[in-house]
Amino acid sequence: MTDKKCDIGLEGAGVMGGNLALNMAGHGFSVAVYDVDAAKARELAQRNESGGRIVAVGQVQELAASLRRPRAVLLLVPAGKPVDDAISALIPHFDKSDLIIDGGNSHFTDTNRRGKLMAQSDMLFMGMGVSGGESGARRGPSLMPGGPSVAYERVRKILEASAARVNGDPCVAHLGAGSAGHYVKMVHNGIEYGLMQLISETYDIMKRGFGMSAGELAEIYSKWNGEELNSYLIEITSDIFRYKDEKNPSLALIDFILDKARQKGTGKWTSWDAMDLDVPTPNVDAAVMMRNLSGFLDERKKAAEVLHGPGHRFDGDQAGEIEHLRNACYVGMVMTYAQGFALLKEASKSYEYGLDMETVARIWRGGCIIRAGLLDPIRTAFRKAPNLANLLMDEYFSREVNARQKSLRMAVAMAAELGVPAPGFSASLAYLDAYRSAWLPANLIQAQRDYFGAHTYERKDMPGKFLHTVWSMVEENT
Ligand code: 6PG
Repeated sequence: MTDKKCDIGLEGAGVMGGNLALNMAGHGFSVAVYDVDAAKARELAQRNESGGRIVAVGQVQELAASLRRPRAVLLLVPAGKPVDDAISALIPHFDKSDLIIDGGNSHFTDTNRRGKLMAQSDMLFMGMGVSGGESGARRGPSLMPGGPSVAYERVRKILEASAARVNGDPCVAHLGAGSAGHYVKMVHNGIEYGLMQLISETYDIMKRGFGMSAGELAEIYSKWNGEELNSYLIEITSDIFRYKDEKNPSLALIDFILDKARQKGTGKWTSWDAMDLDVPTPNVDAAVMMRNLSGFLDERKKAAEVLHGPGHRFDGDQAGEIEHLRNACYVGMVMTYAQGFALLKEASKSYEYGLDMETVARIWRGGCIIRAGLLDPIRTAFRKAPNLANLLMDEYFSREVNARQKSLRMAVAMAAELGVPAPGFSASLAYLDAYRSAWLPANLIQAQRDYFGAHTYERKDMPGKFLHTVWSMVEENT
């Protein structure tokens, strides 16, 4: 190690940490890398092909000593206890004003707690969402930092240089106070779950319903990616269907993959918090539910023997139906983003994040998993109306949704007729139909609650009055 101090420290030389270190070094910033497994940090420094400087350090105190002051260390360690352990190990070697940034998928409440802990020692803490997987980390992720703005300014140049760029604009911005960055990343992942579920439903309908092969599906998704569904997730879906199995080179790998989806939990966190804040996010809920249901593989196999569906394949105008699926997927995606942004709006108010929705849409346009052509009109919608109640109320989106809603209805009906589960499509349609309903049957729910629990109700003709009726006196009343 030389005496020249490094610009930033990075703890965790795994896939994400290693690639981010290479990315930062490639942009001219010197990076001191520490990993509890010292060999990993050494190996990273050895294979550093970025053209920049990466210094491997073997001890936490060496990491602290190798950084210019005030120090900044970015943690890329697994969420949970490893983050707490890393912070506890760093604090004794840190001074006032030094900064720790947690770049993992931490729960926002942990980020709040850690921020307070660091503040007790007059140190700075930021929670930063990092999206884009391995290649994003190396070539440019979307970065979602939150916390004290003074902390952001400290590392702004490094983050801006390392982030993805869209039309020269870096996909990073200081999002807000406290855990704003990790909250935005959590909702990003919730949206990611919702979009993946919708795409998997189009796959299911085309595979089981229409009997289409992986090769045919690759073509469909590649075509869709060239149109208004243009997005990273549609693009990789096309690649996936094209990929051949190494053991069976004439067959697609996808057909050998077990139909059981794993999850680390960020989608579930999104649904949980949305429920806590009373914000409906049915597309995220449906996606979490389907991942859970996919896990019941053995039970599903047994149930398949006992429970019967309609048992027929589609025999109509396939090309026309695929068009409906494309439009339905588009509307479903709009619903999913609309729910995500509605949640962010409420969270920003409840947790005092001060989020700017246009900025969130802007930094999601590149680098991250949910990057999509759709984010341009979303950004425009929030630029025109920063306090927009719901994306569906934007002129562009209401027009698009109105024009395509018939296809969403067709997709839901088609799935029901074929016996293919499509909770993402159904959730999208129900959200649309409920949101556009000036009247909902919630009056009956109020009456039922009042009947069995004396919970009172409001009347339409008597604003502000909360009444209770003895409903069981129905005989006398009628
Ligand atoms: C990203 C991804 C990333 C990761 C998730 C997957 O933005 O780069 O969202 O954070 O792939 O951890 O989450 P699940 O394991 O819950 O699907």
